[in-house]
Amino acid sequence: MPYFCGNDKSMDYTAEIQQLKEQKNAVILAHYYQTGDIQDIADFVGDSLQLSQQAAATDAEIIVFAGVHFMAETAKILNPDKKVLVPDLEAGCSLADACPPAGFSAFKARHPNHVVVSYINCSADIKAMSDYICTSANAKTIINAIPDDKPVIFAPDKNLGRYLIQETGRDMVLWDGSCLLHESFSIDKILALYKQYPEAHFIAHPEAEKHILKIAEFIGSTTGLLNYVRKASAKTFIVATESGILHQMQRENPDKTLLAAPVREDSECACNECPYMKMNTMEKLYRCLYEESPEVRVAGSLQARAKQPIDKMLALSN
Ligand code: 13P
Repeated sequence: MPYFCGNDKSMDYTAEIQQLKEQKNAVILAHYYQTGDIQDIADFVGDSLQLSQQAAATDAEIIVFAGVHFMAETAKILNPDKKVLVPDLEAGCSLADACPPAGFSAFKARHPNHVVVSYINCSADIKAMSDYICTSANAKTIINAIPDDKPVIFAPDKNLGRYLIQETGRDMVLWDGSCLLHESFSIDKILALYKQYPEAHFIAHPEAEKHILKIAEFIGSTTGLLNYVRKASAKTFIVATESGILHQMQRENPDKTLLAAPVREDSECACNECPYMKMNTMEKLYRCLYEESPEVRVAGSLQARAKQPIDKMLALSN
């Protein structure tokens, strides 16, 4: 079987990955924020919720998760006896990093009796300290399922939290975290683009900042944005989320013009790309499947505690 050392340009990664996947009874799960080639080779492409549902249901022996660390870790929590591989162990998440366990534990202690709802973009330690996990697709459902008289902590994304307060009318205590990509959009550049395309619909992910969400025609999760573009009669869309989503959007809507919302010059994310999501490449995907490494691991006691709030989310999302 071929194996490369370094970056072999002559290698047909698509064919090699396909073959290895079959040989090893592996499934490749990819988030919409992955590059087009990775989305195309994946067995399933989805948002955070759909990917956890797929991870919970798979009977493959190996799960290769092309996304970021918290997503693969969630798959491992749901499948402690399976091997969960990632193309790059360093592919993290600014939201997960913004919520360290010790600080969050102290925050929880300052708000006793609160029900803790954590966005799936957090570490296993934070999940283990939570009552419910949610994604942007089911956050409203999860919050609305909590009795009205219970005070709620929402972590770690303050932008999503603020949006959910507005949507559900629930007065939640927010952890002060944010996604570096979704905080990079430039309102001035978006308005300038609007002038060029006055018929365009501006749509945004709720991780974006308040002033960006204020001018959005539609706010939705990754899947929500895909559904909106599919159904809307408009022909042009300015899309404020990670630009990897445009691959699937364009494929579903070949006749529509899709423009990635521009980012500020001083932001950390040039070209609307999440630097972590884009650490994964076809080479690394091939290599991890070949070597069965790097593998994501979660300690047994932590796994059991972190699984409970994820299971509650999955039960409420069926
Ligand atoms: P969804 O996949 O839930 O839309 O969220 C996107 C995201 O935050 C990925 O990090």
